[in-house]
Amino acid sequence: MCGIVGYVGNKKATPVLIKGLLSLEYRGYDSAGIAVIEDGKLLVMKDKGRVANLQEITDSINPDATIGIAHTRWATHGKPSRENSHPHMDNSGEFAVVHNGIIENYHELREFLTEKGYKFSSQTDTEVIPNLIHYYYTNGVKTNTPFLSAVKSAVDDLRGSYAIEVVSSLYTDTMIVTRKDSPLVIGKGNGENFVASDIPAILSYSKDFYLLDDNEYAVLTADSINFFDSSLSEHSKPIKNIEWDATAAEKNGFEDYMLKEIYEQPTAIRETIGAHFHLGEKCDFPEIDITADYLKTINKIYIIACGTAMHAGLVGKNAIERLCHIPVEVDIASEFRYRNPIINEKTLCIYVSQSGETADTIAALKLARSKGAKTLAISNVIGSSITREADYTVYTHAGPEIAVASTKAYTSQVVLLVILAMYFAELLGTTEQSILDNLKASILDLPTAIETVLDQTEQVKEFANKIYTEHDMYFLGRGTDYCVAMEGSLKLKEISYIHSEAYAAGELKHGPIALIENGITVIGILTDPDLVEKSISNLQEVVSRGAKTFIITNQKLTNTSFDFIINIPETESIISPIVSIIPLQLLAYYISKNKGLDVDKPRNLAKSVTVE
Ligand code: AGP
Repeated sequence: MCGIVGYVGNKKATPVLIKGLLSLEYRGYDSAGIAVIEDGKLLVMKDKGRVANLQEITDSINPDATIGIAHTRWATHGKPSRENSHPHMDNSGEFAVVHNGIIENYHELREFLTEKGYKFSSQTDTEVIPNLIHYYYTNGVKTNTPFLSAVKSAVDDLRGSYAIEVVSSLYTDTMIVTRKDSPLVIGKGNGENFVASDIPAILSYSKDFYLLDDNEYAVLTADSINFFDSSLSEHSKPIKNIEWDATAAEKNGFEDYMLKEIYEQPTAIRETIGAHFHLGEKCDFPEIDITADYLKTINKIYIIACGTAMHAGLVGKNAIERLCHIPVEVDIASEFRYRNPIINEKTLCIYVSQSGETADTIAALKLARSKGAKTLAISNVIGSSITREADYTVYTHAGPEIAVASTKAYTSQVVLLVILAMYFAELLGTTEQSILDNLKASILDLPTAIETVLDQTEQVKEFANKIYTEHDMYFLGRGTDYCVAMEGSLKLKEISYIHSEAYAAGELKHGPIALIENGITVIGILTDPDLVEKSISNLQEVVSRGAKTFIITNQKLTNTSFDFIINIPETESIISPIVSIIPLQLLAYYISKNKGLDVDKPRNLAKSVTVE
């Protein structure tokens, strides 16, 4: 998705903006651009392609400007091209804008502006914004803050989602930013200030952030940041210190972010467990005031999320149902928001999102609130949109996840959901304490168990070498092994572009087995002792039809004719998906590497999906 960076200060703006854009590359984009104010005029440098191309342009011009806005574009309206790249200027060349999000009513705004004589040079929805600003600047009500008033009047006309940065040649030391349903943060420096759509872009410059709210405006100069609400009344705002280390968003010697993040999982899990429990003590979530009395009124829990986060939700469902005896439904956010789900004050809705900025998940959260349900957000990003909308928030502490394919966020989400389930069970008294104590001991052992699996990377690599040229693969499992099959299959699709499907092993003979032919690869996950025999029978059925099998198991398998077996440590079955997913993450990674693909930035995908 699109990325935004902004700088106003005392040093050359362009290198800061380029560095910020480079650190946003992981979000996925197809063009990049910068506008600075050089000698009192707007200078726009932009093109389709990588930030490296843009850097060649900016290096050749080498402007001295100390204020500028920058953007990486992920095409929505209009193909990737120089004309469609941001920043966009108004017809007079006095206002430049970058924008993330979608302006839904841009057709009518374009017609309005065309009638007023404005011309358009791109196919984007964004180009209406600088022209509207110009229109209101020249035709609007006169105020003593004309720049801000013109931006506000223009924004009042917009329908949709946006994070916007504006600079003007008429106000050479000032930048105005605003947002609605699209993230924007402001980093405070000393004699300089920064703006970004995503914290890692400016983490090396500041750890003190303001998180802009929906419909809020900020006016920035090198020495000041002033906040205004949607009626332009000024207010103050608390600053947040972000604990992430800038080096956490670097590769630290690993070939790719994804591999680094796979290897960071033991630490991410330790950090996420944090102080939520100690052996022999009850779970604690001081950040949320959920009481036993409230939980007793709940007759249904929804877990709502997208992609990998939804797969984590499926594992969470199993934990909550088993430990708390409350029915749980897991829903894809983009479906949930439009299917008129039955929700009321007896429903608790849990939203899982690494970025906390996924448009569908946020919309699904707003829907549940409007129907009187309580909402709980699980996110990895402090102050992200979802956490600001929810009644309660708990954080995973996976550190910045840069690779598009989620790994450490998934395992951290699962562990947090399981701890939450134990917490609810302790409040409700629905599970014997000895069972919970065993589970806690097992959770504390997870980092070591994952390290044991990571020690088998070479075996996984060997199997990846054998199968990377294939076109189709199948993943089978029962119970939570099926959840892992889904996540393993998604990882493979995302970064290797190999078609794959996950099936509940028992469903195979109801149709999909027709696809099994000689030589096809089938991956089986066998960790649940109660279901393993049944899954083995299903896998034998594919073996006898000529399939090549790659098995991940924590059980002793005898008399089987599988081709390749990865043995993983046995854990409580509720948390086995945290261990059994590791070989599948590695498998997808090495297949992608063998194919020479860009593991961290797979085609067509974006790290945080901020549009519908
Ligand atoms: C994971 O590998 C994916 N890239 C994707 O499915 C992701 O999990 C999904 O878009 C949800 O993102 P979120 O957790 O930031 O909401």
